[in-house]
Amino acid sequence: MLSSRLEKISSLVDNSSEYLWDLCCDHGKFGENYIGKIKSVYFVDVVSDIVDSLKSRLSRKNFLPQDYECITCDASKVQIKNLEQETIVIAGVGGHTCIKIISSMLKRNLDLKPEFIISPQKNLDKVLDFLYKNGFSIISHDIIMDRNVKYDILKTRKES
Ligand SMILES: C[S@@+](CC[C@H](N)C(=O)[O-])C[C@H]1O[C@@H](n2cnc3c(N)ncnc32)[C@H](O)[C@@H]1O
Repeated sequence: MLSSRLEKISSLVDNSSEYLWDLCCDHGKFGENYIGKIKSVYFVDVVSDIVDSLKSRLSRKNFLPQDYECITCDASKVQIKNLEQETIVIAGVGGHTCIKIISSMLKRNLDLKPEFIISPQKNLDKVLDFLYKNGFSIISHDIIMDRNVKYDILKTRKES
């Protein structure tokens, strides 16, 4: 069962999404929810032990290996597909990490197509500033409380 924070993020994933990136995935509980329901789920975390234990946990379940991939990598270096049917989730990390990841993708894909769902733990103002300056529109901005902690959740896309 997902926490209400992850439930909210899930409610923002567009039905037309075919590929989901759970960046900075840690436990991977968010992305796990989508395995077998869309074309592919990509889990990315920079800590190899985290990715190894996620791989072991997922392999004990009845998921088809072709339906997901677990990648040990700094999320700012990951090679996305750059499709409109792609959703990239970055949650549970600071605003500077969110900015670093998205600006690195922007440098490689000036016409960045995926939808992003971002939930920075801090420095929301810096994230908003970065998005506005780089031509992203804010599709929604939700504020939710989960176990007495406030979370900001942004859904955003780069304007073409
Ligand atoms: C608090 S967990 C968030 C887990 C999950 N996304 C959530 O919201 O529940 C943060 C994770 O981000 C990972 N992380 C931090 N910086 C990263 C980066 N640059 N690239 C990939 N993973 C990163 C950490 O290793 C850690 O597992």
